[in-house]
Amino acid sequence: MNSHEARRDVDRQARLAADVIAHRSGVDCHDVVLTLGSGWREGAASLGETVTAIPATEIPGFSGAAIPGHSGLLHSIRLKGGAHALVIGARAHLYEGRGVNAVAHGMRTAAATGVRTAVLTNGAGGIDPAFAVGDAVLISDHMNMTAASPLIGSDFVDLTDLYSARLRALAKRVVPGLQEGVYVQLPGPHFETPAEIRALSMLGGQLVGMSTVLEAITARSLGIEVLGISLVTNAAAGLSGPIDHLEVLAEGSAASTRLSHTLKRLVDSLPL
Ligand code: HPA
Repeated sequence: MNSHEARRDVDRQARLAADVIAHRSGVDCHDVVLTLGSGWREGAASLGETVTAIPATEIPGFSGAAIPGHSGLLHSIRLKGGAHALVIGARAHLYEGRGVNAVAHGMRTAAATGVRTAVLTNGAGGIDPAFAVGDAVLISDHMNMTAASPLIGSDFVDLTDLYSARLRALAKRVVPGLQEGVYVQLPGPHFETPAEIRALSMLGGQLVGMSTVLEAITARSLGIEVLGISLVTNAAAGLSGPIDHLEVLAEGSAASTRLSHTLKRLVDSLPL
């Protein structure tokens, strides 16, 4: 398959998925997509009125929840002002081994449903000592350390202002005191070594995780404006004790009520 055919193939998959979402929800056009990472998932319910919740396995190209804590559902939610949000509770991670197309499929589908704004959330290790565990931190920029791109063929997309300055300014207005940081995506699923964290710190990395970056690139390539936000679930390797995935999840749960409020304020402030 050449790159034109490959691109047509992923676009066709996204169109199929978007048609199923439109059919099942009765909503022809969604305005904003949210992917909810560790700590952020409970936020979906409070965003507005759930129109429909569809098991990911019933939508072409999506798989069920691969890791604990993911709902495995896609929600269509009617927001306060009447706009519609698509909430993806079945994020595909690169470390699952299904390839970059599976990772990008959520954003491609969102674009095919009409989405123009993405809110990408995650749980991340804090590299910058200014960030405490439990802090929500806006993503100001990223470093892609996955050695992968979700783009196909000669799709030379500018990422200069990938994390929208306009949306970050809005976010800081509604959530005063929000800090910002540079997020680094590694492929995982292992956590980093202390030496890697020291290196990332010297390079300017402030947050580290295993998601978001490839989704953000996909979104930008499709003309979607991106807001990214991390929950600091742990101090990155070597900065505190050992990192335990269960503790990462526990920190996410502990912060979830607070994050739900933060997420709702952010989404309500979006110019949809
Ligand atoms: N490293 C990578 N991914 C993560 C971390 C981390 O420390 N915490 C949560 N996701």
